[in-house]
Amino acid sequence: MPRGQLILIEGLDRSGKSTQASILASKFSQNKLIKFPNRSTAIGKIINEYLTNTAFQLNDQSTHLLFSANRWELNREMQDLLNLGYFVVLDRYIYSGIAYTLAKNDIDDSRISSSSGGGENTNLADIDWLLGPDKGLPKPDLTLFLTLSMEEISKRKGWGEERYELQQFQNKVKQCFLKVLNNTEDPSIEIVDVGANSIDQVSNQIWDIVVSHGANVLVDKPIAFIT
Ligand code: ADP
Ligand code: TMP
Ligand code: MG
Repeated sequence: MPRGQLILIEGLDRSGKSTQASILASKFSQNKLIKFPNRSTAIGKIINEYLTNTAFQLNDQSTHLLFSANRWELNREMQDLLNLGYFVVLDRYIYSGIAYTLAKNDIDDSRISSSSGGGENTNLADIDWLLGPDKGLPKPDLTLFLTLSMEEISKRKGWGEERYELQQFQNKVKQCFLKVLNNTEDPSIEIVDVGANSIDQVSNQIWDIVVSHGANVLVDKPIAFIT
């Protein structure tokens, strides 16, 4: 039986990921929107505590593994839905996992990194180590990475109070995202410059790319996995 496709919306903070993931999902009659982190699961509750309570301490490696474990909590559901013909749209996934932890390397701020000032964080810079725990998860059929200038981003509604919502760290996350994505020649990854486009314009831009990749139709190919 043909399956639905897995489409990932990644991007910089305030690039419009959640807005666009929701619009894209609604274009499919059988759809499921899954946001990572999913804060309602057993592990998601710990992640939520970590993100919202800066007094809650967890080392960088454990934090990284928890975000990946949170994706594994949804592994079966993602695969079952795809096999039932659902189009599953993800709001963040493994690239956020890699970019945010990579950005902690050499950050001298104890709110952001448990190893700030210490020498125990060499694996935070090792992309193979960072990707390791995600290997075996379903691989998106199409990944759209939304990007826009810091000038445009700063015009949008500001950050809240969560742990990572600091300008200096966000600049580093942006560099890390681009480093990871430019490093791959994977044709299923598209970098989408949304510029100053309106929500409607961006959703049309995204839909055109989805259609050009054939990601809007049921397919016979098996689900791919992260390797
Ligand atoms: P993200 O999930 O990437 O952080 P959101 O979808 O939550 O981003 O959008 C961040 C803010 O920017 C929200 O207030 C949203 O309404 C607004 N926004 C989203 N897309 C656009 C756009 N194309 N133009 C202007 N504002 C936008
Ligand atoms: P949100 O703002 O989209 O809910 O994301 C919550 C935060 O978690 C955001 O700062 C990005 C961060 N994050 C990681 O550090 N690693 C991950 O694997 C994911 C999915 C998110
Ligand atoms: Mg969002």
